[in-house]
Amino acid sequence: MGITARKNTNPQPGEAGATSIRLVTGEPVAFPDPATARVAVIGLGYVGLPLTLGFARGSRAIGFDINTEKVSQLKSGIDFTGEVTSTELRAADADFTTDPALMADADVIIVCVPTPVNSHNRPDYGPLIAASKTIGKNMKRGAVVVFESTVDPGTTEERCLPVIELHSGMKEGIDFHLGYSPERINPADPTRKLADIKKIVAGSTPAGTEFLEKLYSRVIKAGLFPATSIRVAEAAKILENTQRDVNIALMNQMMMLFDKMGIRSTDVIAAAGSKWNFHHYRPGLVGGHCIAVDPYYLVDSGRRHGLAMELVASARAVNEQTPHYLVEKLEELLPKSRQGLSGKKVLVLGRSFKEDCPDTRNSKTFPLMDALWNRGAEVFNFDPVAFDDHFEGGRGARNIEDPAEAGPYDAIIVTLSHACFRQQFDGETLKSLAHKHAPLIDMRGNFGSVEVTDWFSYWRP
Ligand SMILES: NC(=O)c1ccc[n+]([C@@H]2O[C@H](COP(=O)([O-])OP(=O)(O)OC[C@H]3O[C@@H](n4cnc5c(N)ncnc54)[C@H](O)[C@@H]3O)[C@@H](O)[C@H]2O)c1
Repeated sequence: MGITARKNTNPQPGEAGATSIRLVTGEPVAFPDPATARVAVIGLGYVGLPLTLGFARGSRAIGFDINTEKVSQLKSGIDFTGEVTSTELRAADADFTTDPALMADADVIIVCVPTPVNSHNRPDYGPLIAASKTIGKNMKRGAVVVFESTVDPGTTEERCLPVIELHSGMKEGIDFHLGYSPERINPADPTRKLADIKKIVAGSTPAGTEFLEKLYSRVIKAGLFPATSIRVAEAAKILENTQRDVNIALMNQMMMLFDKMGIRSTDVIAAAGSKWNFHHYRPGLVGGHCIAVDPYYLVDSGRRHGLAMELVASARAVNEQTPHYLVEKLEELLPKSRQGLSGKKVLVLGRSFKEDCPDTRNSKTFPLMDALWNRGAEVFNFDPVAFDDHFEGGRGARNIEDPAEAGPYDAIIVTLSHACFRQQFDGETLKSLAHKHAPLIDMRGNFGSVEVTDWFSYWRP
């Protein structure tokens, strides 16, 4: 018999687990065999689907999602995220399902549901809590539950675990085991796939961590890093993403200041980068559901601990402001005779939140297009890579399939640099799209040939 004290330092009203001094009795259930354990993954998105396929070896995997359309697409061999090929999907030894009862067959359940923010940029734990309920209601005794979703430290043990225990009537450490392993995949990166990225693992006990190391070695070839606790593993992931956000914010703020001084920030970065210990980050639009979201979880966490987290919050504010800076820049670049954006035709090249990735969630191209539209511009958007289905803004913008369709334009903004843009838009093509002296904002600096800079009022960071 042992006593486990789980002190929730930040009880929220009505939050499960706000008080939890637990009396744990009995012998802990044994871990399954990591080499053959049957794995169920909850949430079949960018993270969960490749993981399901990775674990569909040694035993048949289960992929569970609440999105019926997604599950039927996966069953017919279609992954709309483009992370997994049809051949891989069809060959996978996996059951894709919306039936939570199948989870009773799983030795290991891995949670990969979204961790978004609400309209006030506060954490939305809804999907995690819903998944924890599903697990609690369906898992078998002896299962190992692992969370992969990015969260602020404490979430797994203080928010999710009490929900699982409540709905299962079982006790962690005795009837089932708990772990956390943050996901580090980089969608649209063909050189670093799931297996190639070192993975952090942490169980609630050393034996749990050891089990997770063996389990994940079925999938991960780059090695595993055993963290000293679940909270450390949670903190490590959110630190990685926040570090990136803060550093890009610094570059964005420097870009704005240097621009006012007539200095090109990429020239400064190239010069400063000649020192061995300079860190290479570049200015840009920080969107998506990770880098642009996770720091808000830390800000919220800080608030609960009486810390304002000024640096992290300011970095977020700078990155949120960057699309608006670009719109102001565009106005400044317009020929004096044609001041103001009202009635101007603006072509925006790019919609997804990152290069060569179809994902448009929280793309900062949307506030950029909204700001153009609010100033009276006629906005046209071209992005053959991006989805249409997460259209989160840019309501005044018209998606076009051929950029020549609505030209000639009064201004062009290239928000990112898809490989297809670099192939499609040579100097001649770009020139043919716009009036002479039209502003061209080239965020990635890919189109700065003399031919282009002579024709356009050209600007890049
Ligand atoms: N995409 C990335 O690059 C990336 C990288 C590292 C970490 N992460 C983190 O991993 C987590 C998942 O991200 P993602 O990009 O795969 O999200 P996603 O939106 O692509 O996929 C999540 C899936 O979970 C499903 N889902 C939602 N609630 C559910 C529930 N209660 N039960 C079952 N399924 C449910 C959704 O239908 C969706 O298919 C997030 O916490 C994210 O921050 C993402």
